[in-house]
Amino acid sequence: MSAVNAKLKDLLGWVDERFPLTANWKAHLSEYYAPKNFNFWYFFGSLALLVLVLQIVTGIFLVMHFKPDATLNAAGVPVAFASVEYIMRDVPWGWLIRYMHSTGASAFFIVVYMHMFRGMLYGSYRKPRELIWIFGMLIFLCLMAEAFFGYLLPWGQMSYWGAQVIVNLFSAIPFVGPDLSIWIRGDYVVGDATLNRFFAFHVIAVPLVLVGLVAAHILALHEVGSNNPDGVEIKKKKNAQGIPLDGIPFHPYYTVKDIMGVVVFLIVFSLIVFYAPEMGGYFLEYNNFFPANPLQTPPHIAPVWYFTPFYSILRAVTYPLFGIDAKFWGVVAMGASTLIFALLPWLDRSPVKSIRYRGPIYKTFLAAFVVCFFTLGYLGVLPPTPMRTLVSQICSVIYFAFFLLMPFYSKIDKCKPEPDRLTSSGHGAH
Ligand code: HEM
Repeated sequence: MSAVNAKLKDLLGWVDERFPLTANWKAHLSEYYAPKNFNFWYFFGSLALLVLVLQIVTGIFLVMHFKPDATLNAAGVPVAFASVEYIMRDVPWGWLIRYMHSTGASAFFIVVYMHMFRGMLYGSYRKPRELIWIFGMLIFLCLMAEAFFGYLLPWGQMSYWGAQVIVNLFSAIPFVGPDLSIWIRGDYVVGDATLNRFFAFHVIAVPLVLVGLVAAHILALHEVGSNNPDGVEIKKKKNAQGIPLDGIPFHPYYTVKDIMGVVVFLIVFSLIVFYAPEMGGYFLEYNNFFPANPLQTPPHIAPVWYFTPFYSILRAVTYPLFGIDAKFWGVVAMGASTLIFALLPWLDRSPVKSIRYRGPIYKTFLAAFVVCFFTLGYLGVLPPTPMRTLVSQICSVIYFAFFLLMPFYSKIDKCKPEPDRLTSSGHGAH
């Protein structure tokens, strides 16, 4: 052993006596045994972590130049809007930081939707992983709040009117609604007070909670161990040393595999950032290149693509009920459409976890759900017509039926028997 190596070993020993560095490295990486058959779908957890870091780092640099101020400058442009233009045109590399952050927002939702869908494919929310799923749901809610607050900050037309529409939804709640929406805005209209509080939530409050939830999410995962594409518990079959027979150490096997996912992701991400940061108006909406104007409502207000499936469900509710406005029930349906995912661990009664061994009824329902999710998402960006409203009503019914009928169809479905061990050899024999 060279003298340098010996010194480093001494240093590590010194640290380990005071902080569990090696113990944690072993528990979470080099001796964390993960199933050996992870596939494409298992890239998205580490990618979500990457995007989280990317958003925080680019966000810090944006905050150095952004000003949350709705007053008009000497040129008659809101200061907040002008500070974003300043970042784009005058701050060295500011355009890159801003496009990375705006593209990162959409990338976050793509990655998280894929990550959630993986959970649905392989029944990863089932016992004993209910808490991983619940933490995931809380993360998802925070992510939506984070995106909503962030979208107001550039103070463009869509920022302004989007926030106006969403905050107004609260006014549909009987009795307390109108007061509640004034309380949220801090004013009778979306204004400087709203911008300042959304800024506070976007840059510190929500990110803090998000990071804490992600830590809890991963701790819960490492307590019970990962699921896998076969949905078989690898901890049931262990060798004499207590190591799962179908497990491989996370490091180096999956650190290397995840790096490969990161490389592919960064290539696609860079192509978008450099060549199509607006993504045809889906990632950055055209109307948001105009400063907020409280006197001019844009002809068509649509949320960013990642909210549109839920927005369509809101608009699909057109009938009043119990003497209460349709708008209120729309808000209830929209809220329910996001929260209902949290119930999956208890709605699913299938004897097997993975889609590989599920029967035809579940597969058909899942396929119908995916088609409806995309259709609702597409309809949500378009202005409503009677035909589109009808289609979104049908899709909303199927969307909820997928969840609410699950206790019945998952029980009677004809499943294949689950194997004892993983079926594919995966990465390297153990
Ligand atoms: C910031 C967002 C998130 C981050 C950074 C994150 C991170 C991770 C990581 C690193 C893993 C382990 C690797 C993997 O299995 O892919 C994981 C697993 C998991 N996550 Fe997330 N996650 C996030 C959001 C969510 C959401 C929104 C849900 C669901 C509502 C969710 C549900 C799960 C489940 C069920 C697992 C276990 C999967 C299995 O073992 O098959 N996560 N997450």
